[in-house]
Amino acid sequence: MTMGSAAQVKAFLRRHGLSPASLDVAAVQASFLSEMEAGLAGEPSSLAMIPTYVTIDRPVPADTPVTVMDAGGTNLRVGTVRFSAAGVPEITDFHKFPMPGVGKHASKDDFFGALAEVLRPVAAASPRIGFCFSYPTQITPECDGKLLHWTKEIQAPDVVGTFVGAELAKRLAAVGCGGKRIVILNDTIATLLAGKSFGGARRYANYTGVIVGTGSNTAYVETNARIAKLPGLPAGAMAINLESGGFAKCPRSDFDVMLDAALANPGRQMFEKMISGGYLGGVGLQVLRTAATEGLLSPAAGALIGTWKDLATKDMDDFLTNPFLPGLFADPAFTETDLERMMLLCAEVVRRAAVLIAINISTPVIKTGSGKNPLHPVCITVDGSTYYKTTNLKSMVEENLRRLLGRRGIHFEVLKVDEAPLIGAAVAGLTV
Ligand code: BGC
Repeated sequence: MTMGSAAQVKAFLRRHGLSPASLDVAAVQASFLSEMEAGLAGEPSSLAMIPTYVTIDRPVPADTPVTVMDAGGTNLRVGTVRFSAAGVPEITDFHKFPMPGVGKHASKDDFFGALAEVLRPVAAASPRIGFCFSYPTQITPECDGKLLHWTKEIQAPDVVGTFVGAELAKRLAAVGCGGKRIVILNDTIATLLAGKSFGGARRYANYTGVIVGTGSNTAYVETNARIAKLPGLPAGAMAINLESGGFAKCPRSDFDVMLDAALANPGRQMFEKMISGGYLGGVGLQVLRTAATEGLLSPAAGALIGTWKDLATKDMDDFLTNPFLPGLFADPAFTETDLERMMLLCAEVVRRAAVLIAINISTPVIKTGSGKNPLHPVCITVDGSTYYKTTNLKSMVEENLRRLLGRRGIHFEVLKVDEAPLIGAAVAGLTV
Protein backbone atom coordinates (compact mmCIF):
# COMPACT_ATOMS: atom_id res chain seq x y z
CA MET A 1 0.00 0.00 0.00
CA THR A 2 1.34 3.42 -0.88
CA MET A 3 1.54 5.93 1.97
CA GLY A 4 0.15 8.48 -0.43
CA SER A 5 -3.19 6.71 -0.69
CA ALA A 6 -3.73 6.33 3.05
CA ALA A 7 -2.83 9.95 3.74
CA GLN A 8 -5.00 11.25 0.90
CA VAL A 9 -7.96 9.14 1.98
CA LYS A 10 -7.64 10.35 5.57
CA ALA A 11 -7.41 13.99 4.54
CA PHE A 12 -10.40 13.59 2.21
CA LEU A 13 -12.55 12.00 4.92
CA ARG A 14 -11.53 14.58 7.51
CA ARG A 15 -12.37 17.39 5.09
CA HIS A 16 -15.86 15.96 4.66
CA GLY A 17 -16.47 15.24 8.35
CA LEU A 18 -16.27 11.44 8.23
CA SER A 19 -13.25 10.60 10.28
CA PRO A 20 -13.82 8.08 13.06
CA ALA A 21 -10.51 9.06 14.64
CA SER A 22 -11.53 12.70 15.04
CA LEU A 23 -15.03 11.98 16.36
CA ASP A 24 -15.55 13.59 19.77
CA VAL A 25 -16.96 10.50 21.46
CA ALA A 26 -17.46 12.15 24.85
CA ALA A 27 -19.44 15.00 23.30
CA VAL A 28 -21.70 12.62 21.34
CA GLN A 29 -22.26 10.56 24.50
CA ALA A 30 -23.13 13.68 26.48
CA SER A 31 -25.74 14.80 23.98
CA PHE A 32 -27.11 11.24 23.66
CA LEU A 33 -27.53 11.19 27.44
CA SER A 34 -29.23 14.56 27.58
CA GLU A 35 -31.61 13.53 24.78
CA MET A 36 -32.41 10.37 26.78
CA GLU A 37 -33.20 12.47 29.82
CA ALA A 38 -35.34 14.94 27.87
CA GLY A 39 -37.22 12.04 26.24
CA LEU A 40 -37.93 10.47 29.64
CA ALA A 41 -39.20 13.81 30.92
CA GLY A 42 -41.55 14.22 27.95
CA GLU A 43 -39.61 17.24 26.74
CA PRO A 44 -38.76 17.71 23.04
CA SER A 45 -36.10 15.16 22.13
CA SER A 46 -34.94 13.19 19.13
CA LEU A 47 -34.97 10.08 21.36
CA ALA A 48 -38.58 8.95 21.80
CA MET A 49 -37.77 6.97 25.00
CA ILE A 50 -40.94 4.87 24.74
CA PRO A 51 -42.12 3.21 27.97
CA THR A 52 -43.23 -0.31 27.14
CA TYR A 53 -44.88 -1.56 30.35
CA VAL A 54 -42.75 -4.70 29.97
CA THR A 55 -41.04 -5.80 33.15
CA ILE A 56 -38.38 -8.46 33.27
CA ASP A 57 -39.30 -10.22 36.46
CA ARG A 58 -42.23 -12.40 35.36
CA PRO A 59 -41.72 -16.15 35.31
CA VAL A 60 -42.23 -17.74 31.90
CA PRO A 61 -44.68 -20.68 32.04
CA ALA A 62 -43.25 -23.96 30.76
CA ASP A 63 -44.81 -26.20 28.11
CA THR A 64 -47.28 -23.53 27.05
CA PRO A 65 -47.46 -22.75 23.34
CA VAL A 66 -47.69 -19.15 22.18
CA THR A 67 -48.08 -17.81 18.66
CA VAL A 68 -45.38 -15.39 17.57
CA MET A 69 -45.06 -12.99 14.67
CA ASP A 70 -42.07 -10.86 13.73
CA ALA A 71 -42.41 -7.94 11.32
CA GLY A 72 -38.87 -6.77 10.62
CA GLY A 73 -37.23 -4.82 7.84
CA THR A 74 -37.60 -7.38 5.06
CA ASN A 75 -39.46 -10.41 6.34
CA LEU A 76 -42.66 -11.29 8.09
CA ARG A 77 -42.19 -14.44 10.16
CA VAL A 78 -44.65 -16.51 12.15
CA GLY A 79 -44.41 -19.59 14.32
CA THR A 80 -45.25 -21.26 17.61
CA VAL A 81 -42.87 -21.16 20.57
CA ARG A 82 -42.88 -23.12 23.81
CA PHE A 83 -40.33 -23.21 26.61
CA SER A 84 -39.23 -26.42 28.33
CA ALA A 85 -39.19 -26.63 32.12
CA ALA A 86 -35.50 -25.73 31.87
CA GLY A 87 -36.43 -22.59 29.92
CA VAL A 88 -35.16 -23.83 26.55
CA PRO A 89 -37.29 -22.48 23.69
CA GLU A 90 -38.54 -24.62 20.83
CA ILE A 91 -39.85 -23.00 17.65
CA THR A 92 -42.27 -24.97 15.49
CA ASP A 93 -44.58 -24.24 12.59
CA PHE A 94 -42.17 -21.55 11.43
CA HIS A 95 -42.89 -19.71 8.15
CA LYS A 96 -41.33 -16.72 6.43
CA PHE A 97 -43.05 -14.28 4.04
CA PRO A 98 -42.17 -10.95 2.47
CA MET A 99 -43.00 -7.94 4.63
CA PRO A 100 -45.95 -6.01 3.12
CA GLY A 101 -44.99 -2.46 2.08
CA VAL A 102 -41.40 -3.40 1.16
CA GLY A 103 -40.57 -2.24 -2.36
CA LYS A 104 -44.21 -1.51 -3.15
CA HIS A 105 -47.10 0.41 -1.67
CA ALA A 106 -49.56 -1.39 0.67
CA SER A 107 -52.89 0.09 1.79
CA LYS A 108 -53.99 -0.34 5.41
CA ASP A 109 -56.27 -3.10 4.21
CA ASP A 110 -53.53 -4.89 2.28
CA PHE A 111 -51.24 -4.55 5.25
CA PHE A 112 -53.42 -6.02 7.99
CA GLY A 113 -54.92 -8.47 5.51
CA ALA A 114 -51.45 -9.86 4.81
CA LEU A 115 -50.68 -10.14 8.53
CA ALA A 116 -53.94 -11.95 9.30
CA GLU A 117 -53.47 -14.26 6.32
CA VAL A 118 -50.06 -15.51 7.49
CA LEU A 119 -51.16 -15.81 11.12
CA ARG A 120 -54.36 -17.71 10.43
CA PRO A 121 -52.81 -21.16 9.81
CA VAL A 122 -50.63 -21.05 12.96
CA ALA A 123 -52.80 -19.08 15.40
CA ALA A 124 -54.89 -22.05 16.52
CA ALA A 125 -51.99 -23.19 18.73
CA SER A 126 -52.62 -20.54 21.39
CA PRO A 127 -55.05 -17.86 22.58
CA ARG A 128 -52.03 -15.53 22.86
CA ILE A 129 -49.92 -13.79 20.22
CA GLY A 130 -46.59 -12.06 20.86
CA PHE A 131 -46.08 -9.66 17.98
CA CYS A 132 -42.59 -8.24 17.52
CA PHE A 133 -43.26 -5.09 15.50
CA SER A 134 -39.95 -3.38 14.75
CA TYR A 135 -41.02 0.21 14.14
CA PRO A 136 -41.50 3.30 16.34
CA THR A 137 -44.69 2.46 18.19
CA GLN A 138 -46.26 4.16 21.19
CA ILE A 139 -47.18 1.39 23.64
CA THR A 140 -50.33 1.45 25.79
CA PRO A 141 -50.43 -0.03 29.31
CA GLU A 142 -52.35 -2.97 27.75
CA CYS A 143 -49.44 -3.46 25.30
CA ASP A 144 -51.20 -2.49 22.12
CA GLY A 145 -49.12 -0.12 19.99
CA LYS A 146 -49.82 2.93 17.85
CA LEU A 147 -47.45 3.27 14.89
CA LEU A 148 -45.83 6.73 15.09
CA HIS A 149 -44.14 6.64 11.69
CA TRP A 150 -42.56 4.09 9.40
CA THR A 151 -38.84 3.53 9.14
CA LYS A 152 -36.81 1.23 6.82
CA GLU A 153 -38.52 2.73 3.78
CA ILE A 154 -41.80 0.82 4.32
CA GLN A 155 -44.55 2.11 2.02
CA ALA A 156 -47.86 1.79 3.87
CA PRO A 157 -48.75 5.34 4.95
CA ASP A 158 -52.35 4.61 6.03
CA VAL A 159 -51.09 2.32 8.78
CA VAL A 160 -49.41 5.26 10.57
CA GLY A 161 -51.46 6.33 13.60
CA THR A 162 -53.39 3.07 13.86
CA PHE A 163 -53.34 0.66 16.81
CA VAL A 164 -51.60 -2.31 15.32
CA GLY A 165 -52.89 -4.90 17.80
CA ALA A 166 -56.52 -3.73 17.61
CA GLU A 167 -56.48 -3.60 13.79
CA LEU A 168 -54.90 -7.01 13.59
CA ALA A 169 -57.46 -8.44 16.04
CA LYS A 170 -60.27 -7.13 13.80
CA ARG A 171 -58.77 -8.74 10.72
CA LEU A 172 -58.17 -12.00 12.56
CA ALA A 173 -61.79 -12.04 13.74
CA ALA A 174 -62.87 -11.52 10.12
CA VAL A 175 -61.01 -14.68 9.10
CA GLY A 176 -62.48 -16.74 11.95
CA CYS A 177 -59.57 -16.33 14.35
CA GLY A 178 -60.96 -13.87 16.90
CA GLY A 179 -60.50 -13.50 20.65
CA LYS A 180 -56.72 -13.46 20.77
CA ARG A 181 -54.69 -11.53 23.33
CA ILE A 182 -52.14 -9.67 21.20
CA VAL A 183 -49.04 -8.18 22.82
CA ILE A 184 -47.10 -5.66 20.72
CA LEU A 185 -43.41 -5.16 21.42
CA ASN A 186 -40.40 -3.71 19.67
CA ASP A 187 -37.57 -5.99 18.50
CA THR A 188 -35.14 -4.36 20.95
CA ILE A 189 -37.48 -5.24 23.82
CA ALA A 190 -37.86 -8.77 22.44
CA THR A 191 -34.09 -9.09 22.21
CA LEU A 192 -33.66 -7.82 25.76
CA LEU A 193 -36.21 -10.38 26.98
CA ALA A 194 -34.56 -13.14 24.96
CA GLY A 195 -31.26 -12.29 26.68
CA LYS A 196 -32.98 -12.44 30.06
CA SER A 197 -34.51 -15.83 29.37
CA PHE A 198 -31.34 -17.24 27.75
CA GLY A 199 -29.10 -16.03 30.54
CA GLY A 200 -31.64 -17.04 33.22
CA ALA A 201 -29.15 -18.74 35.45
CA ARG A 202 -26.71 -15.82 35.45
CA ARG A 203 -27.47 -12.98 37.85
CA TYR A 204 -26.99 -9.99 35.64
CA ALA A 205 -27.27 -6.49 37.07
CA ASN A 206 -29.28 -5.17 34.14
CA TYR A 207 -30.28 -5.90 30.56
CA THR A 208 -29.94 -4.11 27.24
CA GLY A 209 -31.37 -5.18 23.87
CA VAL A 210 -29.71 -3.94 20.71
CA ILE A 211 -30.53 -4.34 17.03
CA VAL A 212 -28.06 -3.67 14.25
CA GLY A 213 -29.82 -4.94 11.14
CA THR A 214 -31.63 -3.12 8.37
CA GLY A 215 -32.46 -0.57 11.08
CA SER A 216 -30.87 0.05 14.44
CA ASN A 217 -32.13 0.71 17.94
CA THR A 218 -31.57 0.06 21.66
CA ALA A 219 -33.67 -0.77 24.72
CA TYR A 220 -32.75 -0.86 28.40
CA VAL A 221 -34.47 -1.21 31.75
CA GLU A 222 -35.21 2.04 33.59
CA THR A 223 -36.40 2.67 37.13
CA ASN A 224 -40.03 3.84 37.04
CA ALA A 225 -39.28 6.82 39.27
CA ARG A 226 -36.98 8.15 36.54
CA ILE A 227 -39.65 8.03 33.84
CA ALA A 228 -40.81 11.55 34.63
CA LYS A 229 -43.32 11.68 31.78
CA LEU A 230 -45.35 8.93 33.47
CA PRO A 231 -45.92 10.23 37.00
CA GLY A 232 -47.60 7.92 39.47
CA LEU A 233 -46.14 4.63 38.27
CA PRO A 234 -45.73 2.05 41.02
CA ALA A 235 -42.22 1.40 42.33
CA GLY A 236 -40.31 -0.87 39.98
CA ALA A 237 -38.72 -0.75 36.55
CA MET A 238 -39.73 -1.27 32.95
CA ALA A 239 -38.06 -1.66 29.58
CA ILE A 240 -37.70 1.52 27.55
CA ASN A 241 -37.41 1.59 23.76
CA LEU A 242 -35.06 4.46 22.97
CA GLU A 243 -35.80 4.59 19.22
CA SER A 244 -32.16 5.56 19.07
CA GLY A 245 -32.13 5.52 15.26
CA GLY A 246 -33.85 8.90 15.52
CA PHE A 247 -30.98 10.52 17.46
CA ALA A 248 -30.45 13.82 15.69
CA LYS A 249 -27.50 15.36 17.54
CA CYS A 250 -24.65 13.31 16.11
CA PRO A 251 -22.36 15.30 13.84
CA ARG A 252 -23.03 14.23 10.25
CA SER A 253 -20.57 14.10 7.38
CA ASP A 254 -21.26 15.62 3.97
CA PHE A 255 -21.97 12.08 2.77
CA ASP A 256 -24.69 11.52 5.37
CA VAL A 257 -26.33 14.78 4.38
CA MET A 258 -26.23 13.82 0.68
CA LEU A 259 -27.63 10.34 1.29
CA ASP A 260 -30.39 11.63 3.57
CA ALA A 261 -31.48 14.23 1.01
CA ALA A 262 -31.86 11.52 -1.63
CA LEU A 263 -34.09 9.28 0.52
CA ALA A 264 -37.87 9.29 0.96
CA ASN A 265 -37.82 10.64 4.53
CA PRO A 266 -35.06 13.28 4.77
CA GLY A 267 -34.34 14.59 8.24
CA ARG A 268 -35.60 11.39 9.92
CA GLN A 269 -33.67 8.52 11.46
CA MET A 270 -30.41 10.35 10.89
CA PHE A 271 -28.40 8.24 13.34
CA GLU A 272 -29.82 5.02 11.91
CA LYS A 273 -28.69 6.16 8.46
CA MET A 274 -25.10 6.32 9.76
CA ILE A 275 -24.99 2.90 11.41
CA SER A 276 -27.43 0.34 10.04
CA GLY A 277 -27.43 -2.17 7.22
CA GLY A 278 -30.18 -0.41 5.31
CA TYR A 279 -27.88 2.56 4.73
CA LEU A 280 -24.17 1.84 5.22
CA GLY A 281 -23.70 0.93 1.57
CA GLY A 282 -25.56 4.12 0.62
CA VAL A 283 -23.13 6.20 2.68
CA GLY A 284 -20.26 4.29 1.05
CA LEU A 285 -21.60 5.12 -2.41
CA GLN A 286 -21.73 8.85 -1.59
CA VAL A 287 -18.14 8.59 -0.34
CA LEU A 288 -16.97 6.86 -3.53
CA ARG A 289 -18.81 9.28 -5.84
CA THR A 290 -17.35 12.30 -4.09
CA ALA A 291 -13.89 10.72 -4.02
CA ALA A 292 -14.13 10.24 -7.79
CA THR A 293 -15.29 13.83 -8.34
CA GLU A 294 -12.36 15.12 -6.31
CA GLY A 295 -9.84 13.10 -8.30
CA LEU A 296 -9.05 10.47 -5.69
CA LEU A 297 -10.12 7.73 -8.13
CA SER A 298 -9.31 7.32 -11.82
CA PRO A 299 -11.68 8.88 -14.40
CA ALA A 300 -12.70 5.38 -15.60
CA ALA A 301 -13.54 4.37 -12.01
CA GLY A 302 -15.52 7.57 -11.54
CA ALA A 303 -17.48 6.94 -14.75
CA LEU A 304 -18.34 3.41 -13.68
CA ILE A 305 -19.36 4.40 -10.14
CA GLY A 306 -21.48 7.15 -11.70
CA THR A 307 -23.64 4.44 -13.29
CA TRP A 308 -24.35 2.71 -9.94
CA LYS A 309 -27.83 3.63 -8.73
CA ASP A 310 -27.22 2.31 -5.24
CA LEU A 311 -24.74 0.24 -3.31
CA ALA A 312 -26.10 -2.45 -0.99
CA THR A 313 -24.30 -2.83 2.32
CA LYS A 314 -23.75 -6.48 1.41
CA ASP A 315 -21.98 -5.55 -1.87
CA MET A 316 -19.78 -3.09 -0.05
CA ASP A 317 -19.03 -5.69 2.59
CA ASP A 318 -18.26 -8.41 0.04
CA PHE A 319 -15.72 -6.04 -1.42
CA LEU A 320 -14.18 -5.39 2.00
CA THR A 321 -14.02 -9.14 2.67
CA ASN A 322 -12.29 -9.96 -0.60
CA PRO A 323 -11.78 -7.22 -3.17
CA PHE A 324 -10.91 -9.70 -5.92
CA LEU A 325 -13.99 -11.89 -5.85
CA PRO A 326 -16.53 -11.59 -8.69
CA GLY A 327 -18.99 -8.81 -7.97
CA LEU A 328 -19.66 -5.14 -8.48
CA PHE A 329 -16.07 -4.14 -7.82
CA ALA A 330 -14.49 -6.77 -10.10
CA ASP A 331 -14.29 -4.54 -13.14
CA PRO A 332 -11.21 -3.79 -15.23
CA ALA A 333 -12.12 -0.09 -14.99
CA PHE A 334 -10.72 -0.14 -11.45
CA THR A 335 -6.95 0.09 -11.14
CA GLU A 336 -5.04 -1.34 -8.15
CA THR A 337 -4.82 2.19 -6.74
CA ASP A 338 -8.58 2.66 -7.17
CA LEU A 339 -9.25 -0.60 -5.33
CA GLU A 340 -6.82 0.27 -2.59
CA ARG A 341 -8.39 3.68 -2.02
CA MET A 342 -11.95 2.39 -2.25
CA MET A 343 -11.13 -0.22 0.33
CA LEU A 344 -9.70 2.35 2.74
CA LEU A 345 -12.73 4.59 2.19
CA CYS A 346 -15.38 1.91 2.71
CA ALA A 347 -13.59 0.50 5.75
CA GLU A 348 -13.80 3.89 7.44
CA VAL A 349 -17.58 4.01 6.93
CA VAL A 350 -17.82 0.74 8.87
CA ARG A 351 -15.29 1.86 11.48
CA ARG A 352 -17.29 5.00 12.20
CA ALA A 353 -20.47 2.91 12.50
CA ALA A 354 -18.70 0.76 15.11
CA VAL A 355 -17.88 3.79 17.26
CA LEU A 356 -21.42 5.16 17.01
CA ILE A 357 -23.01 1.78 17.75
CA ALA A 358 -20.84 1.51 20.86
CA ILE A 359 -22.03 4.97 21.97
CA ASN A 360 -25.61 3.85 21.34
CA ILE A 361 -25.14 0.74 23.50
CA SER A 362 -22.96 2.14 26.28
CA THR A 363 -24.77 5.38 27.10
CA PRO A 364 -27.95 3.75 28.50
CA VAL A 365 -25.78 1.26 30.40
CA ILE A 366 -23.78 4.10 31.96
CA LYS A 367 -27.00 5.98 32.77
CA THR A 368 -28.34 3.08 34.87
CA GLY A 369 -25.18 2.95 36.97
CA SER A 370 -25.27 -0.88 36.84
CA GLY A 371 -22.46 -3.34 36.32
CA LYS A 372 -19.89 -2.07 38.82
CA ASN A 373 -19.81 -5.43 40.60
CA PRO A 374 -18.02 -8.13 38.57
CA LEU A 375 -20.39 -10.75 40.01
CA HIS A 376 -23.26 -8.99 38.26
CA PRO A 377 -22.30 -7.70 34.82
CA VAL A 378 -24.73 -6.01 32.45
CA CYS A 379 -26.20 -8.34 29.83
CA ILE A 380 -26.08 -6.79 26.36
CA THR A 381 -27.97 -8.92 23.83
CA VAL A 382 -27.39 -7.99 20.22
CA ASP A 383 -29.40 -9.15 17.23
CA GLY A 384 -29.28 -8.27 13.55
CA SER A 385 -27.46 -9.64 10.55
CA THR A 386 -25.52 -6.44 9.91
CA TYR A 387 -23.86 -6.78 13.32
CA TYR A 388 -22.81 -10.37 12.83
CA LYS A 389 -22.14 -10.44 9.09
CA THR A 390 -20.36 -7.17 8.37
CA THR A 391 -16.61 -7.75 8.32
CA ASN A 392 -15.01 -6.74 11.63
CA LEU A 393 -18.04 -4.78 12.81
CA LYS A 394 -18.76 -6.94 15.87
CA SER A 395 -15.15 -7.00 17.02
CA MET A 396 -14.79 -3.24 16.51
CA VAL A 397 -17.99 -2.49 18.45
CA GLU A 398 -16.84 -4.71 21.31
CA GLU A 399 -13.41 -3.11 21.34
CA ASN A 400 -15.10 0.31 21.64
CA LEU A 401 -17.39 -1.01 24.38
CA ARG A 402 -14.42 -2.26 26.36
CA ARG A 403 -12.98 1.23 26.14
CA LEU A 404 -16.18 3.11 26.94
CA LEU A 405 -17.50 0.81 29.68
CA GLY A 406 -14.32 -0.83 30.93
CA ARG A 407 -12.75 2.54 31.63
CA ARG A 408 -15.64 3.32 33.98
CA GLY A 409 -15.30 -0.01 35.77
CA ILE A 410 -18.49 -1.37 34.23
CA HIS A 411 -18.62 -5.13 33.69
CA PHE A 412 -20.66 -6.44 30.79
CA GLU A 413 -21.23 -9.47 28.59
CA VAL A 414 -22.41 -9.43 25.00
CA LEU A 415 -24.86 -12.23 24.20
CA LYS A 416 -26.19 -13.58 20.93
CA VAL A 417 -29.49 -15.44 21.17
CA ASP A 418 -30.62 -17.24 18.03
CA GLU A 419 -34.00 -15.96 16.85
CA ALA A 420 -34.09 -13.37 19.63
CA PRO A 421 -37.10 -11.43 18.24
CA LEU A 422 -39.23 -14.60 18.14
CA ILE A 423 -38.07 -15.82 21.56
CA GLY A 424 -38.65 -12.41 23.14
CA ALA A 425 -42.06 -12.10 21.49
CA ALA A 426 -42.92 -15.48 23.02
CA VAL A 427 -41.78 -14.37 26.49
CA ALA A 428 -43.93 -11.23 26.21
CA GLY A 429 -46.88 -13.13 24.71
CA LEU A 430 -46.83 -15.54 27.64
CA THR A 431 -46.15 -13.12 30.47
CA VAL A 432 -47.61 -9.70 29.71
C1 BGC B 1 -37.10 1.16 14.11
C2 BGC B 1 -37.01 0.55 15.48
C3 BGC B 1 -36.38 -0.83 15.40
C4 BGC B 1 -35.06 -0.76 14.65
C5 BGC B 1 -34.40 -2.11 14.50
C6 BGC B 1 -35.75 1.10 13.40
O1 BGC B 1 -35.89 1.52 12.08
O2 BGC B 1 -37.51 2.49 14.19
O3 BGC B 1 -38.28 0.47 16.08
O4 BGC B 1 -36.17 -1.31 16.69
O5 BGC B 1 -35.25 -0.21 13.38
O6 BGC B 1 -35.19 -3.02 13.81
